[in-house]
Amino acid sequence: MTAVLTEEQQQVVQLARDFAREHLAPHAARWDAEKHFDRPTIDRLGELGFLGMLVSEAYDGLGLDTVTYLMALEEIAAADASIAVSVAVHNSLPTQMLLRHGTEDQKERWLKPMARGELLGAFALSEADAGSDAAALRARAVRSGDGWVLNGAKAWVSNGGTADVILAMVRTDAERAPRGARGIGCFIVPKGTPGVVPGKPEDKMGLRASNTAAVFFQDVHLGGDHLLGDASSGFVYALEALDCGRLGIAAQACGIARSALEHATRYAAERRQFGRPIGDFEATRFRLADMATRLAAARALLHEAARHRDAGGRSTRWSAMAKLFCSETAMWVTSQAVQVFGGYGFMRDYPVERLMRDAKATEIYEGTSEIQRLVIGRELLDSH
Ligand code: CAA
Repeated sequence: MTAVLTEEQQQVVQLARDFAREHLAPHAARWDAEKHFDRPTIDRLGELGFLGMLVSEAYDGLGLDTVTYLMALEEIAAADASIAVSVAVHNSLPTQMLLRHGTEDQKERWLKPMARGELLGAFALSEADAGSDAAALRARAVRSGDGWVLNGAKAWVSNGGTADVILAMVRTDAERAPRGARGIGCFIVPKGTPGVVPGKPEDKMGLRASNTAAVFFQDVHLGGDHLLGDASSGFVYALEALDCGRLGIAAQACGIARSALEHATRYAAERRQFGRPIGDFEATRFRLADMATRLAAARALLHEAARHRDAGGRSTRWSAMAKLFCSETAMWVTSQAVQVFGGYGFMRDYPVERLMRDAKATEIYEGTSEIQRLVIGRELLDSH
């Protein structure tokens, strides 16, 4: 741990650790094998407050600082990275957008039940032809009386088939602004609204126990009170939220890496070859030493980024640096862990294989490593 926490903050992290060890870790391998998204577990996390971690107490959340939030998330991810992504997306993206830009009515109707864990949220930005170039999105909303009618298709939405409410970025002025960052609104789309059709769950390499799905909008009629903030600023709200989202994914990456390091260390102490535990060999010791060092550096950068967010203002560059470094560290550490396990590491029977598959997602979603480098480079040169 890199941060000095108050007793209350420590209690939150300890609660996450206890819950993760008791209710997540024992099931993670089976849920992965069965591609099972366990909604009851998400609901129990919600009852404990873990779906309102960054929402102020005035709106029924825990009102945690960002460092404590990320430490709790790391505990969840170390036990089950699939559950962690549902929790991370819900806490970092839709709830933060509502908290920042919602009207009091929208906060009462959507944010409070989301913070209490009664409604699960999702964030729909990407489309089949608008991944890294998110501003190329084409889903559109046209005005109809006091409200809007939405059409289009969103891709790779985490919680897409399971969320109760989706915050969707949709073009509101397609005639005058057919592409680009402006002319995009953010809509609060409740599950069950006629015309909202989730696709089948994606069959993924990793995070197989999380739900990722396309979401189709087919003449979806929404009242004017479903528009969040300004009708042309939804893309800006989304990028702003991703500054927090990327910290959540970085924490998930640290949890995955930590789990891989713990498994590899235990295995190195037990596994005997040439008459000795393999941990006696320098090749293994040095490998573990490098894994532990890189993880500690990644976590320290993440917590520094979190402190930038808590200080107010934009944490864009810090969030991108933390996401980039933590996700690439997770990929490297999990690959090293597989190497420590040797042939066993390549088998599904041991957890490091799953951890390596899970780690890969962190280099891709909420902005690929290439996009993080683009953002960091831009911020450096723009502020020069
Ligand atoms: N905070 C606030 N405003 C921001 C911002 C931030 N972090 N970043 C940019 N903006 C503002 C800009 O100032 C600009 O405002 P003006 O129009 O007033 O000038 C506006 O937003 C548009 O920004 P850009 O000009 O930088 O936009 P761009 O089209 O050049 O895109 C990009 C930049 C960095 C490439 C962006 O498209 C991007 O981050 N792409 C990756 C997308 C991504 O991360 N997708 C993840 C989807 S979610 C997911 O993975 C699955 C899931 O369910 C979690």
